Amino acid sequence: MCYVTVALHRLIKGYGSRTDLCSVSCASSITVADSSSVLPDCWSSSPFSMSPSISMLCLLVSVVFLVIMKDATTLENIPGGVYTPGELLNSQAGEVVNDTKVGRPGSCRRIPQSIIIGVRKGGTRALLEMLDIHPEIAVATTEVHFFDWDQNYSKGLEWYRQLMPLSQEYQTTVEKTPGYFTSALAPERIRAMNSSIKLLLILRDPTERVISDYTQVYYNRLENHKPVQLIEDILIRNGALNTRYKAIQRSLYDVHMRNWLHHFPLEQIHLVDGDMLIQDPLPELQKVERFLNLPPRIESSNFYFNQTKGFYCIRSDGRERCLHESKGRPHPVVNSTVLQQLRSYFQEHNLNFYRMVKRSFNWN
Ligand code: A3P
Repeated sequence: MCYVTVALHRLIKGYGSRTDLCSVSCASSITVADSSSVLPDCWSSSPFSMSPSISMLCLLVSVVFLVIMKDATTLENIPGGVYTPGELLNSQAGEVVNDTKVGRPGSCRRIPQSIIIGVRKGGTRALLEMLDIHPEIAVATTEVHFFDWDQNYSKGLEWYRQLMPLSQEYQTTVEKTPGYFTSALAPERIRAMNSSIKLLLILRDPTERVISDYTQVYYNRLENHKPVQLIEDILIRNGALNTRYKAIQRSLYDVHMRNWLHHFPLEQIHLVDGDMLIQDPLPELQKVERFLNLPPRIESSNFYFNQTKGFYCIRSDGRERCLHESKGRPHPVVNSTVLQQLRSYFQEHNLNFYRMVKRSFNWN
């Protein structure tokens, strides 16, 4: 039995590990055949010299072992690690899955060719869902936080790829994690993965973004029965604007953009106007289609304005759907003096940002 197992194992793995194989599959027969020399005996002892019951046991153990070894060779079990671009190409070209769920043979999970890097509360979910209308786009529905969270990054690129949707070769895989934009390490890490990746950055008026950020945290805290504060009490500390407030820091687009431009040329980062996406989504999406070199497939009939929600919703594949209720929530009315302080604080940063990206926005 040992001989059969060894031969099959070699066929599967392409090499033999006598230690592993013998110690796992043939341990019981070895001790009987020759208790003085475990490993060589697995190779040399004749199965015919074993008793029938020992042979049966060895057969059973061998079958179990072969099943385990087969599983061990699938990609899911390859340990993580940071990949070089060469390794990436191999892993991308690797596993081809027959997508039995949707009945499309040849699907596989691909490393994204485009990433929505942020900004948080900029309209990243709306952008992703709207791009998903396009037949040549496959989107990762959950936020992956691979490049901004060390504990995920250390799991390696193969872990990341497994979180991508099944896609066909003609499709562009898109992932969105808004936290990437404000992460110090994400640009460098993304570049190390693919220096020619196409980045999408959706931005909205920084002041509006702060209020939206506050609103999200406010509702999260309420849901978790935590105390909440008025926005003015967070924004103003000791009579001055609390510029250390995280929501304000995240709206300093020039500061974060500088880091991205250290690693990517401006042409590789397409800016989506989040305020325009709210008012009239189609033109913004058409620009993204062009940036991604995709044929124009998203049409005005893919959107309808929902009066109750106060936002555009999506019509696609015969279904109509609006974004989750946590998107497009009413904002608190902010004291006008505080609002003015906030707007003034962002003014210089916004001008810096316009210079950096060689275009301006209707902010402030
Ligand atoms: P508010 O909830 O503060 O209005 P993100 O997905 O990045 O968290 O951004 C959320 C924001 O997307 C929402 O912020 C909302 O203004 C904006 N948005 C853009 N288009 C939308 C749409 N069609 N439906 C709902 N929200 C949309």
